Amino acid sequence: MTEAFGTTFSSPVLLAAGTCGFGEPLVEFMSPSEVGGLVTKSVTVEPRWGNPPPRVAEFADGMLNSVGLANPGLEAVRNEKLPWIRRTLGGLPVFVSVAGSAPDEYAAIVSGLDGEDGFLGFELNLSCPNDSHLRGSASGLPFGLDPEALAHLVELVRPLTERPLIVKLAPNDPEIARSASRAVDCGADGVTAVNTMPGTLPPGGDGPRLGAGSGGMSGPALLPTALGAVARVAAAVDVPVLGVGGILSARDARAFLDAGATMIQIGTASFADPRSAAVVARGLAELA
Ligand SMILES: Cc1cc2nc3c(=O)[nH]c(=O)nc-3n(C[C@H](O)[C@H](O)[C@H](O)COP(=O)(O)O)c2cc1C
Repeated sequence: MTEAFGTTFSSPVLLAAGTCGFGEPLVEFMSPSEVGGLVTKSVTVEPRWGNPPPRVAEFADGMLNSVGLANPGLEAVRNEKLPWIRRTLGGLPVFVSVAGSAPDEYAAIVSGLDGEDGFLGFELNLSCPNDSHLRGSASGLPFGLDPEALAHLVELVRPLTERPLIVKLAPNDPEIARSASRAVDCGADGVTAVNTMPGTLPPGGDGPRLGAGSGGMSGPALLPTALGAVARVAAAVDVPVLGVGGILSARDARAFLDAGATMIQIGTASFADPRSAAVVARGLAELA
């Protein structure tokens, strides 16, 4: 059991944004009671088709994706996805991930969903590396990499909801602890570290490639970066830190908790085995 955000989580293991849709794998491959919760695919105001295929490419120790935040948009999430979650996931703690190209879009999604039932809080995706249209800050960087844009966005959204508000930061933020502190000072209730790392695969040949050219790297190759980031963030803030990046096993998860994370999220591992989060949750309980 993990107590955080005013709620009891049956396990500290959550499914990570963008790797479990709106919770469908919890019905197809496992039971909601086997994990602590989930973060939805990032939601934008309008539906998005995402980037041209191929949108995922594997390499030795991880994968790159350029999905480009494909999602059904605010209206469909309000009218179809949240009712499905309410009916199907039995009160499992759910965070809705929010993305946009401008602060107003984040505000529109948070206000547009706040009155609905079926979810616990919001995770603001401030760190998506693979869509230049969603790099909305004046500097052209993802919001999480621009301290002023980060502060402005959190201050704008905070008064719109009393639900837990988590910010998700980028692995390539050289000042990730400072960004986390700034977000918390502006009203964030938690910090998720980290999103995927921007990257490009070697061109040509028969090797893996992405339709968009470049994307976000995830999987085991990201683990050392994510673990280091979690330790730095956890030392800097006194709110829950959610660790994510390359976690494959209960031992990996334990390392993140020992580094200061309150909970962890499983992303890429779910592509190899959709039951990964349940397996890690059980293994973690046995390790304890
Ligand atoms: C195919 C794919 C899609 C993703 N989509 C999102 C997304 O919509 N929003 C988000 O905040 N993170 C997204 N992520 C990032 C993950 O939530 C996670 O932060 C990252 O993959 C690192 O964890 P992992 O190594 O366990 O996958 C996505 C990752 C992958 C692989």
